[in-house]
Amino acid sequence: MIALSLDRAAAGRKEGKMSKISIPHFKTVSVPLVMEKKAAREKLVMVTAYDYPSAKTSDEAGVDIILVGDSLGMVIQGGEDTLSVTLDEMVYHTSIVTRAVKRALVVSDMPFMTYHTDDTDAIRNCGRCVKEAKAQAVKIEGGAKRAGLVKALVDNEIPVMGHIGLTPQSIHKLGGFKVQGKDEQSAGMLLEDAAALEKAGVFAIVLECIPSELAGKITASVGVPTIGIGSGPRCDGQVLVFHDLLGISDPPHPRFVKKYKNLREEMVEGVSHFSEEVRRGIYPSEDQAYRVHAEKGQDRSK
Ligand code: KIV
Repeated sequence: MIALSLDRAAAGRKEGKMSKISIPHFKTVSVPLVMEKKAAREKLVMVTAYDYPSAKTSDEAGVDIILVGDSLGMVIQGGEDTLSVTLDEMVYHTSIVTRAVKRALVVSDMPFMTYHTDDTDAIRNCGRCVKEAKAQAVKIEGGAKRAGLVKALVDNEIPVMGHIGLTPQSIHKLGGFKVQGKDEQSAGMLLEDAAALEKAGVFAIVLECIPSELAGKITASVGVPTIGIGSGPRCDGQVLVFHDLLGISDPPHPRFVKKYKNLREEMVEGVSHFSEEVRRGIYPSEDQAYRVHAEKGQDRSK
């Protein structure tokens, strides 16, 4: 199939026609496409997903980017922060997500201490997410201080998404989950961080919990798309955690979260209903049971 498409492309070139090479396993949303959306002034949509159903529904809903976020340490594992997530867990969750996704770009979030100590280790760790788990890119937290690593990753064919502002892996240094860039000095540093990341070769930058005016300024100052979370409407795109936007995660939520559904309530209601029916002997009825002399086969799906 791939060879056939390439043959057609070659034939097209001989005839002087530009023919598009279609490679079946390539997803619709690529790193270059994400970058082009900024020039086209098209807003980018990113959500987190950590498992097959969340990835499949997000992909079917038409989001552009799926981030296998280290927020899974809080959302899925119930931890207080993201610091304890391991590389093996990220590879595991990313491989489940990439199995489900046909269209969106999948980005693996690199866990704390998998890219901090040494560039060679970092390249190897990020490479696992691409090679074993089939992510198309990785995300790392930090600005100018990560520029050297970003360049090294990009030089080794690993696309990188940056992340500045409130970087959850720095909560102990920052003193908690706090809005960043509120004074002139820290705002200036965030502008410098964004410029350094762009120069180093990132294809997009997440701006987390930055005042709206500053997020607008950063967005206007770089040629790569910015993707905001808690940073107002002036970014090139937005990201939310899947479980937050669908109202599955435990409250309280930060003020930037908008709940588009209240699935937690519906889920509790559904499981309570099931419990009640089991206790009252309503479920299962004979309709949901198998018989010795069944007309249809005993295939589980019938
Ligand atoms: O881990 C995560 O979910 C993130 C997003 C909030 C950007 O880093």
